[in-house]
Amino acid sequence: MEVIVRPTNPEASWLAARLIAAAIRAKPHLVLGLATGRTMERLYAQLVQLHREEGLDFSLVRTFNLDEYIGLPATHPGSYRYYMNRHLFDHVNLDKRNTFLPDGMAGDVEAECERYERRIAEVGGIDLQLLGIGRAGHIGFNEPLSALRSRTRSKALTPMTVAENRGEFSKPEEMPRRAITMGVGTILEARQLLLLVTGETKAEILAKAVEGPITSMVSASAIQLHPSVHVICDAEAAARLNGREYYDWIFRNEPEWAPYR
Ligand code: F6R
Repeated sequence: MEVIVRPTNPEASWLAARLIAAAIRAKPHLVLGLATGRTMERLYAQLVQLHREEGLDFSLVRTFNLDEYIGLPATHPGSYRYYMNRHLFDHVNLDKRNTFLPDGMAGDVEAECERYERRIAEVGGIDLQLLGIGRAGHIGFNEPLSALRSRTRSKALTPMTVAENRGEFSKPEEMPRRAITMGVGTILEARQLLLLVTGETKAEILAKAVEGPITSMVSASAIQLHPSVHVICDAEAAARLNGREYYDWIFRNEPEWAPYR
């Protein structure tokens, strides 16, 4: 794992955007795992900027989102399909037929979860999975006690997650209490992980995830098991990290970071 701390939120997400752009340029058929939430909004705006200003080409990219609320149609402004259209898919040359999210309206949720796993396997697995972290330590909607080997399934959201996300709904009471999410085991199978974390409200949980013990109480700590992880955060989110000096030294000195310094 490498942890890279950038001074501000825009600089942290800009670095993440450029890493994603580099992955797409290196492999135009990239299978890209996507996340939603407030943290990702700036990153998606920057990817749109890279598309417009530098011609970043999404035409062959396939995307798989981590999660979707159960019971919301794609047309509902609170759904993650709607979010993705609004922040990314409508503004770049992605073929929407190559964009996948779990179907939150599926009659048979279990079958839908199996179908989603099969789809990922059919394209050869996810090359690069983008992740955010919730204050409950979740990645995707893998709330505390999610098995470290869990697969795509339906999960009940914790009261903390409901409190964090209900503000995103114009009628907060419409926020679903369950979601379909890739499992921790599904996420760990991606070839590379990129966790983007910004803001002081995430400082405590980020330190637990990166430097604490691996535990299903903090699903994000499972990324410590993965052989290829970049954690990109801003200084506020990094405030509780003990190893900050070492992480900064790596960024200043390792040749792979030279183009991004
Ligand atoms: C949603 C997802 C979640 C969010 C997390 C942080 O697709 O994967 O794990 O990344 O809840 O959300 P924000 O950025 O809104 O704090």
